[in-house]
Amino acid sequence: MKNNIEIKNKIKKFNKEIVVSSDKSISIRIVLLASQAIGISKIYNLLESEDVLNALKSVKKLGVEYKKKNKFYEIKGFGLNSFSPKKNLTLYAGNSGTFARLILGLLVNCKKEVKLIGDKSLSNRDFSRVIKPLSLFGANFKNNKNLLPVHISGTNFLRPIDYYEGLGSAQCKSAVMFAALKTPGITKIKAKKSRDHTEILLNELDVPIKIKKEKFYDYIEIKGQKNFKSFTYNVPGDISSSSFFLVLTLLSDNSQLKIKNVNINKSRSGIIEILNKMNAKILTKNKKKYKGELISDIIVKSQKNLRSIKCPKTFNSSAIDEFLIIFLVAARAKGVSSFKDLGELNNKESPRLNIAVKFLRKIGIKVTRQKNDIKIFGQPNINLSGKFTIKNFKKDHRVFMMSCIAALTFGGEWNIHDKNSVNTSFPEFLKIIKYLGANTN
Ligand code: S3P
Repeated sequence: MKNNIEIKNKIKKFNKEIVVSSDKSISIRIVLLASQAIGISKIYNLLESEDVLNALKSVKKLGVEYKKKNKFYEIKGFGLNSFSPKKNLTLYAGNSGTFARLILGLLVNCKKEVKLIGDKSLSNRDFSRVIKPLSLFGANFKNNKNLLPVHISGTNFLRPIDYYEGLGSAQCKSAVMFAALKTPGITKIKAKKSRDHTEILLNELDVPIKIKKEKFYDYIEIKGQKNFKSFTYNVPGDISSSSFFLVLTLLSDNSQLKIKNVNINKSRSGIIEILNKMNAKILTKNKKKYKGELISDIIVKSQKNLRSIKCPKTFNSSAIDEFLIIFLVAARAKGVSSFKDLGELNNKESPRLNIAVKFLRKIGIKVTRQKNDIKIFGQPNINLSGKFTIKNFKKDHRVFMMSCIAALTFGGEWNIHDKNSVNTSFPEFLKIIKYLGANTN
């Protein structure tokens, strides 16, 4: 079956309400935490994307049972010491850095060696960032050049660690927190700001955790070896998936969109603040707290008068997965936008900073780059007419979706490859752009 999409027309004006797919970060964490709980957890609106399904299949191989019911998943866990891998077990993480790094944290006490593999993109990503701290707990690793495949064997003699997380990586922080759950004594973490879903969930589950938040760092202490009970959870919508529609609406003519029930946790919602600084006027309505997370509806309207931004580095973590789509707004804004210190973007599913610079230049936008800092020279009247083929982006779901939004708002005739990549995070993406009126083949 063909795996590309052709877009030859801009989207016409729309005024609609949508619900986006559920939060990927939370869905993966929920599967992993339910696998460690005692009893049957009941999970509503679990994201059914490939990354999450690979997490489910993997915990099943480790002895955890799950069932899909009509409206929810049931996941049956047996506590912190219950993973029972068979000899020579291999787990497949697919495209998911989050699942791969977090599961290693839960395997620090596993009784047999487990091999972790992933797809081509994940097999090029660095694992030293989790192997180093998890080795300090006492886990043993075999691998080549810090890449997958990684072999882990656990230990019965875990020791707590003091860990400094300086990348601003929630995956590293969470892997360490998961290992701390299994470890006697108190693990102490000083972590550069990053998404805090794991801390929030552990707190909700009554795990002994202390969290102190300062401006640039969070300080976390976890007392290990306390089992927790199964739970019920209803996963909210994903702000990262919503971001494509925020920008689609902003860059379209005379349109308006309401996105219902999105998680706008401050550690994730940098995009809203960044776009509002660019004159977007995005509103959050009907806010409520759910198990420590802030959920709301988001309302966005088209905006012709977008202005450039000197994006403060403090937003780098809370918008880490949204920069590709934010760059499109900078391409249409009046003035020169600058973004700094975005080296981590090149460590994602594809080298996103490199790809973004190439992409913007391909569509005629001037971009200057110094190492990990870029400047984007906006063209408020951008109106493309050429033909554009987008391929060889390592099947990165976010590059695919960003390209579709560019095609639907900037004009031109587009042929965008690897449409199945959306299944990684946002299986409903193509259905929703069609619902909003996109004409695609
Ligand atoms: C994620 C953390 C971020 C993000 C990724 C999801 C998570 O990665 O880019 O898409 O769920 O913890 P890093 O921890 O590598 O920054």
